[in-house]
Amino acid sequence: MRKLTNILVTGGAGFIGVNFIRFLFGEDCKTPEFDGRIINLDALTYAGNAASLKEIDEKFGGTRYFFERGNICDKVFVDDIFKKYDIDTVVHFAAESHVDRSILGPEAFIKTNVLGTFTLLDCARNAWHGAHDVLFHHISTDEVYGSLGETGQFTEVTPYDPHSPYSASKAASDHLVMSYHHTYGLPVTLSNCSNNYGPYQFPEKLIPLMILNMLEGKPLPVYGDGKNIRDWLYVEDHCDAVWTIMRDGVAGEKYNIGGDNEWENIKLLNALIGIVAKKRGCDAEKIKALITFVKDRPGHDRRYAIDCSKIKKKLGWKQSVKFEEGLDQTVDWYISNAGWVNSIRSGEYQRWMERNYGGR
Ligand code: NAD
Ligand code: TYD
Repeated sequence: MRKLTNILVTGGAGFIGVNFIRFLFGEDCKTPEFDGRIINLDALTYAGNAASLKEIDEKFGGTRYFFERGNICDKVFVDDIFKKYDIDTVVHFAAESHVDRSILGPEAFIKTNVLGTFTLLDCARNAWHGAHDVLFHHISTDEVYGSLGETGQFTEVTPYDPHSPYSASKAASDHLVMSYHHTYGLPVTLSNCSNNYGPYQFPEKLIPLMILNMLEGKPLPVYGDGKNIRDWLYVEDHCDAVWTIMRDGVAGEKYNIGGDNEWENIKLLNALIGIVAKKRGCDAEKIKALITFVKDRPGHDRRYAIDCSKIKKKLGWKQSVKFEEGLDQTVDWYISNAGWVNSIRSGEYQRWMERNYGGR
């Protein structure tokens, strides 16, 4: 098992980063063995919210938790962070993460996901001088593998075939990470995960968007015929898998992470409607009437399914949250955190939605 002492978390103010830091430090702390420091480096783009970690900052700020606002593309800044905190581990979540945004404006994706990852890798290489007891863990997506037909699953050796500017930029970053291992011996691990859901997810992604639109009586926009399939994993299970790889994963290896939980979008939406209707004491048929089939996303991948047997067999990880429970908890979280939702949806996001989708 590796000793992980001074961990640089990039993108720690975004959906998965926040959940990861909470996983390490939170009330119901799942990692009592961790006694190191977390340095959260985040640019606070529209998707980042430092206030999501307020309690962690109050409890550990200045001793075991440090927030640094900055851009991963800024080499001078990142070099300085490595020196200032004597970083021995990087877990790299920071990214532009939404496929629809990548279609409307790919440039930010190339800058952050490709150039940003390159900058981080280069700073790690310079800071670590060939050391072996360090680790760069890169967080990636199953979308790099492209689209499946009705059968089959992505494995770690499935060839890359990205279809959106988002997935192409993530694929490029994965290749850069592996190249730094093969060329310079940088100790890296890489994980490709399926769709996450849970608390603190920015409400442009399917599940929180639908929950909030249902609560507000707004249309529920379903792309195409609604039969695209995604594999869903509760975010805390993803965090647990990442932590498992960081401790015990083999340098130079990649690991698929998934939920073994495939759903057609329309079936998922109907399940969510059932949960929301029950909690609100209203008629599910009334919510179903909000379903609106809209123009399909260009290049929309039909089906993702992930074979995560490697991480299960080699590292002993498994999913622990059942989908019905996870969805139920997620709906509760969005109902009870209206303040968070309003703060993150005000300003730039609202203007962006109005510009691109007429406020949908
Ligand atoms: P997110 O969009 O919610 O958060 C991204 C965070 O990165 C934000 O806090 C943002 O401020 C920060 N950031 C963006 N550009 C930056 C830059 N140039 N410098 C510093 N910080 C910057 O994303 P997420 O859903 O939490 O995804 C995290 C990672 O997990 C991404 O790498 C994504 O590709 C990957 N991933 C996500 C999912 C999913 O379902 N959400 C699934 C598989 C993999
Ligand atoms: P999304 O949450 O954007 O994740 P990804 O595209 O990275 O898998 O979308 C999940 C699925 O839901 C995808 O098939 C697109 C579809 N979708 C809709 O039908 N309507 C929506 O408003 C959104 C955001 C997504």
